[in-house]
Amino acid sequence: MLLEIDDIRVHYGKVEALKGISLQVGEGEIVTLIGGNGAGKTTTLKTISGLRKLSAGRVRFDGADISKMPGHKRVLAGIGQAPEGRGVFPGMTVEDNLLMGAYTRKRGQAKETAKDLAEVYELFERLAQRKDQMGGTMSGGEQQMVAIGRALMAKPKVLLLDEPSMGLAPMLVQQIFSIIEEINRRGTTVLLVEQNAQQALKLAHRAYVLETGKVVKSAPAADLLDDPEVRAAYLGGELSADEEEAATAEAPEQA
Ligand SMILES: Nc1ncnc2c1ncn2[C@@H]1O[C@H](COP(=O)(O)OP(=O)(O)OP(=O)(O)O)[C@@H](O)[C@H]1O
Ligand SMILES: [Mg+2]
Repeated sequence: MLLEIDDIRVHYGKVEALKGISLQVGEGEIVTLIGGNGAGKTTTLKTISGLRKLSAGRVRFDGADISKMPGHKRVLAGIGQAPEGRGVFPGMTVEDNLLMGAYTRKRGQAKETAKDLAEVYELFERLAQRKDQMGGTMSGGEQQMVAIGRALMAKPKVLLLDEPSMGLAPMLVQQIFSIIEEINRRGTTVLLVEQNAQQALKLAHRAYVLETGKVVKSAPAADLLDDPEVRAAYLGGELSADEEEAATAEAPEQA
């Protein structure tokens, strides 16, 4: 397993936000965490990236115990993240924001950096068009793209994404999900947190359901799309695409 979380507990003051969470992410996978507000999804990602301390349990990444490793070293080790609230540098151009992601590179790797930049621009056409615009004047959705693009510039082995579709217009939501799919297709493992459970489950290979700091379910994502409990709680009880199709096919023809 590329990433393994073993029975982690995390506290905010005296309040236990994570009450013994275990999960695994294999190389090449897209794994999604779904769950209601306050379930502990963001805290889980922050613990993986080293922004929150463990009270118990451990985090293993790429064969090593990183439970006590400081956050900046985890970035170097290959844990990439697009921070919550986006974290785009407002007074820097889009391109300089992206280049900040490559700061881990040693000098003399300009060629490789240029190639990675071109790849990010290929994924996010919008960023290519606006590379000289100030980060702070990009729209919310565009800043989300900058944040993901910047994370990719560090060439992460795993990319942690916290609600990448939040606040995006429906068209951009679709676009972000297909970009995540493409990022994964090109070889990056993804751990995705999403309120948009339907879309996340369609995209992911496997999923974990979190409730009040615990994993209550884990299964192949496709199975959870059909799980009555998951559908009632997180999918608004909607029919799955297959069922919708079946229902339409069964509908009596209009005379
Ligand atoms: N800085 C903090 N101080 C105190 N409590 C916090 C802090 N951050 C999170 N919590 C609490 O920890 C619990 C888990 O929060 P977390 O942000 O991980 O949830 P989440 O699953 O990401 O929720 P959402 O879907 O609303 O983003 C919640 O009860 C929350 O109130
Ligand atoms: Mg959250």
